[in-house]
Amino acid sequence: MLRALDTERDRGVSAFEAAETSDDLDAAQVDVLGRKSPFSAIQKSLGSLDPEDRKRVGQAANDARSELQAALTARREALERLAEDALLHADRLDMSLPGRVPRVGSFHPLSIVEHELVEVFTSLGFKVAEGPEVEDDWHNFQALNIPPDHPARTMKDSLYVSVPGHPELLLRTETSAVQIRTMQAQPPPVFVVAPGRVYRRETSDPTHLPVFHQVEGLAVDEGITFADLKGTLEVVAKAMFGERRRIRLGPAFFPFVEPGCEVGVSCFRCDGVGCRVCGNGWIELLGAGMVHPAVLENCGYDSERSTGFAFGLGIERVALLRYEIPDIRMLVDGDVRLLEQFEGVA
Ligand code: PHE
Repeated sequence: MLRALDTERDRGVSAFEAAETSDDLDAAQVDVLGRKSPFSAIQKSLGSLDPEDRKRVGQAANDARSELQAALTARREALERLAEDALLHADRLDMSLPGRVPRVGSFHPLSIVEHELVEVFTSLGFKVAEGPEVEDDWHNFQALNIPPDHPARTMKDSLYVSVPGHPELLLRTETSAVQIRTMQAQPPPVFVVAPGRVYRRETSDPTHLPVFHQVEGLAVDEGITFADLKGTLEVVAKAMFGERRRIRLGPAFFPFVEPGCEVGVSCFRCDGVGCRVCGNGWIELLGAGMVHPAVLENCGYDSERSTGFAFGLGIERVALLRYEIPDIRMLVDGDVRLLEQFEGVA
């Protein structure tokens, strides 16, 4: 029986060591240590031995079982390690491979300029106002002191929208209509800027688009003077184009302001000397003026108490000048070769 135990122990240890998979090992365990194994048969027959032999053989059987158990456990652990290594190997990632960096995209140059302008004005205390792009004749023209027969209407070559039951709707020709809507909605004081899209019946060419963008400004309060307009525009010109910029004002006519002016800023490129961008050193930037008393009255304001200034600035024009874009149509072509040059500019 002692010899048989030795044989079973040796056979078991080599069977465990030979197991290639955990299934192999399970089978070997049943074969070597299971209820029907020779080893179990020996243990079961211990009872028939006399006490002296039972002790010796019993002891040897316990030793053999411990050895077999140890070999089994060692092999099981080794197989688990192997399986884990195989999994790690299969799952291996090459961390030295450069990652794929996603394109971040960019703001459109018009958005960049618009955000900047709005930021300058809000830092001065102006609030952002909005109005509809489809306007009625009264807000777009009449309230702005442009009566039905006024020649300014033909100059604007408006795009009319035909909606049954709503005669005289048009795509707004300027953001000035937002001045009217803002004053109708609240009493003075009013300090607003209104960025937005405007439409004119225009054939596109290098300097014209039928759809473009403006930023309108309106300040109305008691005691607002032309000096406030000048000071505000100078601050904005410097913030947009640099501290060294000066502004100049020349007379201009807009039906909704009196007096009206056009405002130029000294060229940011040549500092007012004259260059390819500006021609004579000055860049004409916007129309402005003191809000016409009739406009204030049209909105229910008392023009004896309140005065104000307004201005309107073309966003495309600022973008073209600043980024030296040669053709306004490039702003709407959607060509990524233009847009990707603005990546990272916010
Ligand atoms: N609305 C004018 C335009 O589009 C600009 C302007 C606005 C002029 C406000 C004076 C005051 O040309």
